[in-house]
Amino acid sequence: MSFNLRNRSLLDLKDFVPRDIRFLLDLANELKRSKYAGNEHPRLKGKNIALVFEKASTRTRCAFEVAVHDQGGHVTYIDPVSSQLGHKESLKDTARVLGRLYDGIEYRGFHQSVVEELARFSHVPVWNGLTDEAHPTQILADLLTMEEFGERPLHELSFCYLGDARFNMGCSLLIGGTQMGMDVRIAAPAGLQPPAELVEEMRTLAQTTGARISIEIDPLKAVIGADFIYTDVWVSMGEPDDVWKQRIDQLLPYQVNKALMQATGKARTRFMHCLPAFHNLDTEVGRHVHERFGLSEIEVTDEVFESDASIVFTQAENRMHTIKAVLVATLA
Ligand code: CP
Ligand code: NVA
Repeated sequence: MSFNLRNRSLLDLKDFVPRDIRFLLDLANELKRSKYAGNEHPRLKGKNIALVFEKASTRTRCAFEVAVHDQGGHVTYIDPVSSQLGHKESLKDTARVLGRLYDGIEYRGFHQSVVEELARFSHVPVWNGLTDEAHPTQILADLLTMEEFGERPLHELSFCYLGDARFNMGCSLLIGGTQMGMDVRIAAPAGLQPPAELVEEMRTLAQTTGARISIEIDPLKAVIGADFIYTDVWVSMGEPDDVWKQRIDQLLPYQVNKALMQATGKARTRFMHCLPAFHNLDTEVGRHVHERFGLSEIEVTDEVFESDASIVFTQAENRMHTIKAVLVATLA
């Protein structure tokens, strides 16, 4: 095992070099096989882990809980309503308390500076379970999934992310894809493209990893030849409800539908989404958007979401195997 990950935090994928990510993906694959074979060896016995969520979650919370449980450790779930965090106690003080009680802390919230402060003052490994700027554990699951379905090494695969590329998913996919030497395409309108400094930094990194990066406005051009098409919600957690109208106007041409899937020119292009997704009227938000704007499917059509090309539930499962790998590598 590569012991240089021990006691390390995962605040942003940039904290890790490509070799570390390769190691985590291999370890995740190994842990997935052991779980399937029923011979998993618990390596987190006696470890206590805090899960701090300032935003809602299904996958990330459950993936951490199952991963820790499988490995013989214990978790405490801390939500923003029933803890003192933010109301009666500062993050700095909470960090110092949690650091005395727990071996590691998962944190989901708003600004990246908060997860950084938590790591600085808790003195235990901190794993970012999503901030506005980054979603590193999601990208590990996505890379594992692309490797499983791509049937080729990551550096021979291409993906195109369409949508709001300024936010956590667009930025973290750009970083992860570049680190692994992939053909990375981003399709987004001006104003929703990744920050220029990040693109510049990734273009420099691409010179050593061999990644190809293209940032396009035209979605149909961006997806040509892509092995994977990836999208995310158009309005993220924490954004005000009144941005929906502008976002729909900006992103409707980027909706993942049958025509867009066919525009890759490849019969085997797969569809990916970090989830949750708005692909029908079975959600409160989906119905609310439908009433206001008449759209019954938003970032992806139900047809694509439910098609054989869709690998979204393997992605969701892989959240757990990859998070387990991060925990084992940094704590065990
Ligand atoms: N993809 C993801 O992070 O899902 P949750 O918000 O359910 O954790
Ligand atoms: N961009 C989304 C990702 C959810 C996993 C959000 O931040 O809400």
